[in-house]
Amino acid sequence: VALPTAVGGAVGVRLAVTATHRSPSVPRFAVPLPIPPVLRPVSTEDGTDRYEVRQLPAEVEILPGRPTPIWGYEGVFPGPTIEARSGRPVAVRHHNHLTVPTVVHLHGGVTPPDSDGYPLDLVLPVGQHRWPGHHVPTGPSGHGGTAGVAHGARTYRYPNQQPAATLWYHDHRMDFTGPQVYRGLAGFYLLRDDAEENLPLPRGERELPLMITDRFFNEDGSFFYPSLDPDLRERPGVHALFADGVRGDTILVNGAPWPFVRVDGARYRLRILNASNARSYDLHLDPPPPGGGGLVQIGSDVGLLPRPVSHDSLYVGAGERYDVIVDFSRYPAGTSVVFGNRSGAGPTAEVLRFDVGTRVADDSAIPERLGPDPEPFDESQAATTRTFRFLGGQGGLPATINLRTFQPDRVDARARLGSTEIWRITVDPEHPFHLHLGHFRVIDRNGSPPDPQDTGWKDTVQIRGGEVRIAVRLTGYPGRYVLHCHNLEHGDMMMMANYEVA
Ligand code: C2O
Ligand code: CU
Repeated sequence: VALPTAVGGAVGVRLAVTATHRSPSVPRFAVPLPIPPVLRPVSTEDGTDRYEVRQLPAEVEILPGRPTPIWGYEGVFPGPTIEARSGRPVAVRHHNHLTVPTVVHLHGGVTPPDSDGYPLDLVLPVGQHRWPGHHVPTGPSGHGGTAGVAHGARTYRYPNQQPAATLWYHDHRMDFTGPQVYRGLAGFYLLRDDAEENLPLPRGERELPLMITDRFFNEDGSFFYPSLDPDLRERPGVHALFADGVRGDTILVNGAPWPFVRVDGARYRLRILNASNARSYDLHLDPPPPGGGGLVQIGSDVGLLPRPVSHDSLYVGAGERYDVIVDFSRYPAGTSVVFGNRSGAGPTAEVLRFDVGTRVADDSAIPERLGPDPEPFDESQAATTRTFRFLGGQGGLPATINLRTFQPDRVDARARLGSTEIWRITVDPEHPFHLHLGHFRVIDRNGSPPDPQDTGWKDTVQIRGGEVRIAVRLTGYPGRYVLHCHNLEHGDMMMMANYEVA
């Protein structure tokens, strides 16, 4: 088992050391919620919107008065939002002005393999012709995962042949996804279409993308990432903070610590994205609106639900998205509503505060009908049934799938394009399962019907022990893709597998 050098220390002997790190304390609900800027295309040729993105080191103010060095798409964190339309292709040229190789993955995108961000399809820093010490990948093309190594820049092509959805893009470099996303390499990619726009959903200022992350900070304001990354200081106990995935003590929404947002007494659409490396959130409104059911889910990871589903709370695993309507007119003006996190404790039990204003005219509505019903799925029509067992990652144990760690040259499953397969994912104890290319529906959890929040098409599912069965629809493009744990440290510890679609 070859463990990457950056994380090899996680499989160590110092696990008895108590995990300690305390970030500088910041007041909660003291800064307004930022909204990431929307990126404009540089041109439109032959119906393709072309974007240029520079991956840049930058310094931003996250904690008051303490500058934080980040790596950001266009130098901001979150990265700029890309707004795309179904059926209209996008090409994004990423320029790597950082000091390390990068890879960009469009999470939830149905993307050809050479643009999907296979973890070995590195983009080397501008001016760097080889990457010293990097094991030379020998993928199917002989020189890389699927697209090979690019020098300085790569153009990623997204056909957008899929319905409206909240997608996101983030770094996916082999062995280093955790630290690179942590430093800021993540942004929204909102896919829109006519069907959705014809619905009377809240829009404009009343549509809020919410990227939830957690971080540790050092006293000087820099991010603290507990690993053996030579740039970062090593302290007693850091391995214990790392080994099961990094969960910081400071909650950020759109890059700001515990922000507040003033809302009208009206309906709002919240596009919730958990972009944290490892933390899950059990989100609820505190206080709940009279009568409960305050979180009306309209969409899942990759599109609108057939019908809205009301929840009192939503358990959001790393990588998952929930598209939700909250009607703040159900609260009296002047109410402060905290987006709380029941799976957190102390400061991490709170995320964001909504300060509700007066009731205003609101022509939005939550239609009873949102998207088409999925075709009924008959299990006997499944092309095959596979089992993926996610084991380890905790307590310094190797992070494995079917007792193996990732090997770029080993294909772990071969599937047929156009088929639907049943996958049994068993986990111990808890892992967020994600696959590239294919979208799926949850069939059952431990033999019981899926949770209400499992409705709809998904690309990531949080599994809190036991087994989940999913029906995976493999449409799109032939090629080699990965499935992995979206606890990014587990992924870096090689809890990942190749599957090939032909
Ligand atoms: Cu969001 Cu393979 O990742
Ligand atoms: Cu995991």
